[in-house]
Amino acid sequence: MARVFVTRQLPGPALERLSQTHETTVWPESLPPTYEQLRNQAADSDALLTLLSDRVDAALIAAAPRLKVIANYAVGFDNIDVDAATARGIAVGNTPDALTEATADLAFALLMSAARRITEAAQSARQGLWKTWEPTGFLGADVYGATLGIIGLGRIGQAMARRGQGFGMELLTTETRDSSNLEHLLSRADFVSLHLPLTPGTHHLIGERELALMKPTAILINTSRGGVVDQVALARALSTGQIGGAALDVTDPEPLPPSDPLWQAPNLLVVPHIGSATWTARERMAEIAVANVLAGLEGAPLPYQVPTQAGS
Ligand code: GLV
Ligand code: GLV
Repeated sequence: MARVFVTRQLPGPALERLSQTHETTVWPESLPPTYEQLRNQAADSDALLTLLSDRVDAALIAAAPRLKVIANYAVGFDNIDVDAATARGIAVGNTPDALTEATADLAFALLMSAARRITEAAQSARQGLWKTWEPTGFLGADVYGATLGIIGLGRIGQAMARRGQGFGMELLTTETRDSSNLEHLLSRADFVSLHLPLTPGTHHLIGERELALMKPTAILINTSRGGVVDQVALARALSTGQIGGAALDVTDPEPLPPSDPLWQAPNLLVVPHIGSATWTARERMAEIAVANVLAGLEGAPLPYQVPTQAGS
């Protein structure tokens, strides 16, 4: 029996299956282990099942001599030093596919909420401010016929494109590397939705210059990683009316501290990183993460090995 450390209780039956075959410790708290606690657990673990909020860096990997596999419970894996893992022959897995449609649904929900000011309007109704039917109350932006700009065309970006098509939107898409295409998209789109992994090449991809290219009515949607957007520049662009609004499922850091100046910006909707938060997606992610752990402990290729290790 190998020793597996799981950094949080997960929904569904997958972890039970894991504990039947391996000595499995599930972190019992509602808040994650600290970095030191995780490093201590990793020191005598053969496998780790981690969340996107767990930092697995080179020092932690160096302090875990038995480690054979790290299964991240997320499609993103920017929290893991994959190069350090690869150098040690440690397999790294993620959970794509399972959450593609759920995350695209959330991205589209953010788009609709921001366009039609749903959270503001709902709050106003609940606060007893609904006095009469207002010809000019809560006027928002059209979705039908508007231009949706999608940056990053992986699984989730493509799923978002299908939603846009279904709603009668015009589509503009780009991969990041193509900068003239990116500029064209930013200057034309009514909604700009980000679907990129966080890498050194995408860090602060949307900064002062990019925000300045956007229309004053445009709405930025981010369900990827907070670090893709320069938040200081975003706060300024919202406050000065350089862009029309932003709807974020992800921030840098997470959680966004109550004192963060971004909270002061107008026309901002923030939800607490719930892109994959459906029962089906989260249970399926647990199945995949457990399958990755089991394969890794056997020295077999993981069902979902991260692209940089799988050679694609
Ligand atoms: C969520 O953000 C994920 O990467 O799965
Ligand atoms: C996520 O699965 C993506 O490739 O966009």
